[in-house]
Amino acid sequence: MRSIIDILDLSPAEIEELIATAMDIIENPAKYAEVCRGKKLATLFFEPSTRTRMSFEAAMYELGGNVISMAGAATSSASKGESVADTAKVISCYADIIAMRHPKEGAALVAANNASVPVINAGDGGHCHPTQTLADLLTIYREKGRFTDLTIGFCGDLKFGRTVHSLINAMSRYPGVKFVLISPEELKVPSYVKKDVLQKKGIPYVQTTDLEGAMPDLDILYMTRVQKERFFNEEDYLRLKDSYILTPDKLKNAKLDMNILHPLPRVNEISVKVDEDPRACYFKQVLNGKYMRMALMRKLLKEAGTI
Ligand code: CP
Repeated sequence: MRSIIDILDLSPAEIEELIATAMDIIENPAKYAEVCRGKKLATLFFEPSTRTRMSFEAAMYELGGNVISMAGAATSSASKGESVADTAKVISCYADIIAMRHPKEGAALVAANNASVPVINAGDGGHCHPTQTLADLLTIYREKGRFTDLTIGFCGDLKFGRTVHSLINAMSRYPGVKFVLISPEELKVPSYVKKDVLQKKGIPYVQTTDLEGAMPDLDILYMTRVQKERFFNEEDYLRLKDSYILTPDKLKNAKLDMNILHPLPRVNEISVKVDEDPRACYFKQVLNGKYMRMALMRKLLKEAGTI
């Protein structure tokens, strides 16, 4: 049974196929409105979410299916000590596909190894968030028309930001991609991402603390929130939370066609005044996420022989 835990579980050809499906869904939504008739998605969210859970649910409804939902660990039997493995076996009795978010790295893989239906990782701790990456990729495709020859700046919490790790992995597979990693010293990209992805594949990258200095080179600026929930003490969070705040003034040396992405939620790291800038793409990303989740669930359910 095929599950998607990491963005690298999908080949570049499969990502192209998902993008083609998403674009067709955008053009011809009625063609997909009955694809999952009678099928059920279970959303198991052991951590808070607005976009990911609701876009998975909207995606399944728009495919003609139904949703059963666990919107928090506190109201489930996880609070009584039930394991992720047992939960996955149980939910497989009720649903045709599972989307799961969990605060522990590796939890989605445990679920996939125990479920008898496909499991999609909707975020596991600071590790991966592959469907956010699919949303990011469709946004880049729609804005830039290519994945090659791009200089991508990641700014903010590059240590705990799982969306950053997933997008670095995904974009490292395309030629001509360079990364500019902009963060405070304490929130740099983890060494395993540098060693296992960037250095191993010989991808050019620079690390800096200077957002405005990096700005003129960037084709894409991917802003991130400092991940309060992953800090061990509040004092460090308070010291680092406003390290970068993107304002219209800081964009004055940016390329006119640079795209500003952010997985959201935003706290303080992008001024609301930037929302009016045509380069701001973060609300387009939200919508793109729904289309890519539709395309992904359709693909996995077809491969499983469920539809
Ligand atoms: N981008 C994202 O994962 O948002 P949520 O935490 O609201 O799902």
